[in-house]
Amino acid sequence: MSTVSGPVPATPDHGAPPPADVDASGLPGSPADAVLDLRDVHRTHGTGPAAVHALRGVSLVVRPGELVAVMGPSGSGKSTLLTLAGGLDSPTAGEVRVEGQPLHALDRRGLARLRRRRIGYIFQNLNLIGGLTAVENVALPLELDGTGVRRARRLALAALTEVGLSELGDRFPDQLSGGQQQRVAIARALVGERRLVLADEPTGALDSQTGEAVLRLLRRRIDAGAAGVLVTHEARHAAWADRVVFLRDGVTVDSTAPLVGVETLLAGSGR
Ligand SMILES: Nc1ncnc2c1ncn2[C@@H]1O[C@H](COP(=O)(O)OP(=O)(O)O)[C@@H](O)[C@H]1O
Ligand SMILES: [Mg+2]
Repeated sequence: MSTVSGPVPATPDHGAPPPADVDASGLPGSPADAVLDLRDVHRTHGTGPAAVHALRGVSLVVRPGELVAVMGPSGSGKSTLLTLAGGLDSPTAGEVRVEGQPLHALDRRGLARLRRRRIGYIFQNLNLIGGLTAVENVALPLELDGTGVRRARRLALAALTEVGLSELGDRFPDQLSGGQQQRVAIARALVGERRLVLADEPTGALDSQTGEAVLRLLRRRIDAGAAGVLVTHEARHAAWADRVVFLRDGVTVDSTAPLVGVETLLAGSGR
């Protein structure tokens, strides 16, 4: 059997260096086209001697067409970074901007609206709703946002078709295999006009072939103009990304072009 098409090669057109200007905050200026902009973000849980510093000053810019892989040992802050980027949690210091909008400036409703419309989140544990069919799960964020039932269903079916599940839309999650459930979760994250796709180890429970298929889907959506952050333990999945950011103890220890140095970094991570 011949090998199916592998990771896309590094695409130089996504690699333009960011402008070096500095804005009023004294931090590097937010590039006008940044979809995600984390600025010196800290997240501390608890206080005093018991405080856990999950993130200790992380900055990251992700532009349209860019997929950034985040790697690092367990407990290094990868999921924390993703929840902050998705507006599911707030930093204790620093700032998160999505499409130029500082998240701290939004009230709860505004933040919820931005999350539903612009951010697709693939959770480590999927979070599919058991009492809803696949198509209902995918349509839910659209309906919550006021899209009519029929239109939401049509868009949901299109998203399910994109992940190869057009025939299984009327099944409930427990009537689907693990890989199929994963693809429903991905369809839900991609449905509509999501500009920022955040995925926390989306291939964790999948066999390698399904895992590759998931990465290819994600890559296709990013290439169509979204921005993505992918938390992964696997170097061969990180190879689908344009850049790899390596976290350790809540700080970025190195970032690298894909394929170059990832194995070396992992070897040094104690994993
Ligand atoms: N709600 C929380 N309360 C206290 N500590 C937390 C909480 N969430 C995460 N942490 C801690 O923050 C650190 C980073 O966690 P996490 O972002 O989940 O790491 P990763 O995803 O890289 O495994 C860990 O030490 C973890 O125990
Ligand atoms: Mg995690």
